[in-house]
Amino acid sequence: MQPDWDQRYRQGDTPWDKGHASPALIHWLKNYPGRISGHVLIPGCGAGHDVRAIADVEPASAALGVDLSPTAIATCQQNKVHDNEQYQQADLFQLPWKFHAAFDWVWEHTCYCAIDPSKRPQYVSAIASALKRGGTFLGIFYLNPHIDTTIPNDGPPHGTSIQEVESLFLGDREFALLDSKKPNACYPGREDREHILQFQRV
Ligand SMILES: C[S@@+](CC[C@H](N)C(=O)[O-])C[C@H]1O[C@@H](n2cnc3c(N)ncnc32)[C@H](O)[C@@H]1O
Repeated sequence: MQPDWDQRYRQGDTPWDKGHASPALIHWLKNYPGRISGHVLIPGCGAGHDVRAIADVEPASAALGVDLSPTAIATCQQNKVHDNEQYQQADLFQLPWKFHAAFDWVWEHTCYCAIDPSKRPQYVSAIASALKRGGTFLGIFYLNPHIDTTIPNDGPPHGTSIQEVESLFLGDREFALLDSKKPNACYPGREDREHILQFQRV
């Protein structure tokens, strides 16, 4: 059963929130300065740490975090520091029509593993729809959260494999694989359990 995400935020029951952006994202931004530009969509942005990090390091970008939870989005708005950091409450599976082919980049971090696995094909379709042709999807995937004994086995977070993500993204030939590698930095405790995948919308 899917959680009531807003209730989790209202109750402060958010163990995924480490209080700062993904170390893999910070490392990536440092190594590829200026690469992320234009309109950037961050689905399931939670408290907005990754959105703020992108807006901070890449002032030429317009970063938009979306989340199902109005409470999470209210927190994002309260903590907002950059003009190029925006937020909107929205369901990734029912994005407004104006988001169609509107984004140059999508940054994914723990949204994919949070949604019901049966909706993963819909996730890929939503990303394909939001990206401009030639746009880039960059994601840090939490591969095997079930190893973490503090998290129930039935998820979320749900288990993920590199092969599964690649096959879903490459299946309908809407994406080409640009990169697949282990990140150089990760949250403590997630060593060998995170993987970077980068696809181009064709
Ligand atoms: C595990 S949390 C990760 C949040 C954030 N990425 C982070 O790392 O702190 C998953 C997030 O996805 C959001 N979410 C779940 N289903 C969603 C959907 N269909 N559309 C938009 N956001 C969704 C939840 O509200 C939650 O904030």
